[in-house]
Amino acid sequence: MKRILTIVGARPQFIKAAAISHTIRDFYSNRIQEDILHTGQHYDDAMSGRFFTELDIPLPKYNLGVGSGSHGHQTALMLNGIEEILLKERYDGVLIYGDTNSTLAGALAASKLQVPVYHVEAGLRSFNRAMPEEVNRIVADHVSTLLFAPTQTAMGNLQREGFGQSQAIFSGDVMLDNVRYYTERMQTTDNLPAQLLVTIHRDFNTDHPERLKSILTTLDTLVERYDTDILFPVHPRTGQKIDSMGYSPKSERIRMSAPLSYLETLEAIQQSWLVLTDSGGLQKEAYFCGRACVILRPETEWVEIVEAGAALLADADQQRIMDCVGQLRDITPTAPTQFGDGRASHAIIQHIIS
Ligand code: UD1
Repeated sequence: MKRILTIVGARPQFIKAAAISHTIRDFYSNRIQEDILHTGQHYDDAMSGRFFTELDIPLPKYNLGVGSGSHGHQTALMLNGIEEILLKERYDGVLIYGDTNSTLAGALAASKLQVPVYHVEAGLRSFNRAMPEEVNRIVADHVSTLLFAPTQTAMGNLQREGFGQSQAIFSGDVMLDNVRYYTERMQTTDNLPAQLLVTIHRDFNTDHPERLKSILTTLDTLVERYDTDILFPVHPRTGQKIDSMGYSPKSERIRMSAPLSYLETLEAIQQSWLVLTDSGGLQKEAYFCGRACVILRPETEWVEIVEAGAALLADADQQRIMDCVGQLRDITPTAPTQFGDGRASHAIIQHIIS
């Protein structure tokens, strides 16, 4: 029996961890025993607790409660806390997800103690080092023992950086596992897709008032041009910036809401004729659910979706956003083939066991 510590901390990681946790519970509980450590990076119920309940993830055995802070401060608290636990308990490996500060801290703490590190969603690159996530994922990859790439592009990145076949493994994307698993269990709705779904949370959009303002004013224009409702679930970081700018939408048809749960997000995508986002996760979920996506960034790690003609890069520029919406409004992407077969979590667990 292998003892594994899963380290999570931010909203997208709870979602990804759900895929692996279910698969361990349902198929490999005689081979792997999993404990969960929550760094506490996200702590509001809407950003954290609710996902454990909704996705039926085992409650964390440890919660470090680090909360928000500057990158160095937050990561340092996590390193300290994770190290203590790794010294106390003898784990055979540590599972980390994605590219947040919690990923980085887990990777560093474990690798320094020579505990094998398994990185799920490895090999992603935006080639933009101004993004904190780019630094996190490069460092995490380079101290990891097994690197699970969700796409062939990610595999190519890892091969170029010198990882061989024994370390870099194409697993497919656990987020596709999730979309398949949960949409099969969701009640289908007959509502026509009548809204736009918009999310913004990246620091390069929220922390630059001119970019944030450009995106927000474009929403008003979109309501008029397309006679559409807009659902805009607001990340706490974005909410604080919007409040300090004194922005409120001109049209009542722009519905700003609290962050959505995972299942609410899938439902919202299905009810939307297009998604506008700077989130990597939502770009994929839109694609997996057959919706096109305008990416509010200058580049993306998920280049396959752009290559498939299902997404366009608009950055934060009003004219480009309007052009992209115009180009994508009638596009219905077909089933994805580049993200594996929806059984990434099985591939990952089997590699860890062997
Ligand atoms: C983090 C990740 C990002 C990921 C995102 C998903 C890093 C560097 N960034 O960004 O890659 O896409 O999570 O959401 O790790 N806040 C709350 N309540 C919470 C959590 C955060 O109010 O439960 C507010 C705080 O003001 C905090 C701010 O949001 O300072 C930013 O939170 P933080 O965890 O630092 O980064 P995210 O923007 O969430």
